[in-house]
Amino acid sequence: MRVLGIETSCDETGVAIYDSEGGLLGHAVFSQVDLHAEYGGVVPELASRDHVRKLLPLVRQVMAQTETTPADLDGIAYTAGPGLVGALMVGACAGRALAYAWKLPAIAVHHMEGHLLAPMLEEKPPAFPFVALLVSGGHTQLVDVRGLGDYALLGESLDDAAGEAFDKAAKMLDLDYPGGPRLAALAEKGDPQRFTFPRPMTDRPGLDFSFSGLKTYTLTTVREHALEDGLPDEQTCADIAAAFQEAVVDTLVIKCRRAIQASGHRTLVIAGGVSANKLLRERLEARLAEEGASVYYPRHEFCTDNGAMIAYAGYLRLQAGERTGLAVDVRPRWPM
Ligand code: KG4
Ligand code: ZN
Repeated sequence: MRVLGIETSCDETGVAIYDSEGGLLGHAVFSQVDLHAEYGGVVPELASRDHVRKLLPLVRQVMAQTETTPADLDGIAYTAGPGLVGALMVGACAGRALAYAWKLPAIAVHHMEGHLLAPMLEEKPPAFPFVALLVSGGHTQLVDVRGLGDYALLGESLDDAAGEAFDKAAKMLDLDYPGGPRLAALAEKGDPQRFTFPRPMTDRPGLDFSFSGLKTYTLTTVREHALEDGLPDEQTCADIAAAFQEAVVDTLVIKCRRAIQASGHRTLVIAGGVSANKLLRERLEARLAEEGASVYYPRHEFCTDNGAMIAYAGYLRLQAGERTGLAVDVRPRWPM
């Protein structure tokens, strides 16, 4: 079975082809980062328009690259949510229309399910059941994954997502969008011992998160040390970045450990943009090894949004006999 996957939920246009025999045959991502950079964040209308411009050329490119003709395909998967409604509509309409024209089944994929299954594209894939930590710009969730479509939410952020917190803290330090990876790079030059930031909601039982207090704490620290231009000196900025990253990573690690202990599973999967964070990976591996558990994550380029995870999730769902009808239905909010 060969499936074309389309992702347009936010600011990345992603296309990929997954084949049950050959694995991931090809993929391409066009990032709109430069388009949104001058606004300091994603502008939904600009995102939709750019998906319109880039999507079909990318489909053509990936089909040509993989020598795939419409007749070689067995289905088309597209992200139907959650995400920006206009952006989602572009991929969903294109995917649904191509499937109709090429007489193929279509499947609407949940973006976070795509992230969740992305580590399965790697050479040593994790096996069900596992605990998944989904950490992106819009979500921070711990999920008990018993099998395809068999998910139980263990905990989630009550306010900001971890990636959102990274982005907002980065903005306070005057780093360009997207701030997460930039803040992580700055933190490498900082002294994580100089400031101690709070570890929100770790002093009580439970698996929920809250990052908005940490954001306020960061802002207060920046203001306390600000010079005339409104920013602390370079080293202090790096020290704040390091303290912030330590606090987020530590909080995530404490909750993952708890989730592993509570579920009895021996595998943790991390996925979503923040799973690219080096410190998070290192700490999780070290701490979960103490519990006899192992950590799986996608390759770097599949941590952030991409078409490969959508093609793969769509393939699994199509193979299970699922189909999505002709109506194009996107869901900006969609519990998993
Ligand atoms: O999954 P993703 O590409 O898009 C969403 O579905 O949200 O995640 C993007 C998020 C952004 O908030 C970005 O700042 C964050 O992931 N991110 C990172 C790193 N790389 C990306 N956060 C911390 N450290 C990183 N290395
Ligand atoms: Zn995402």
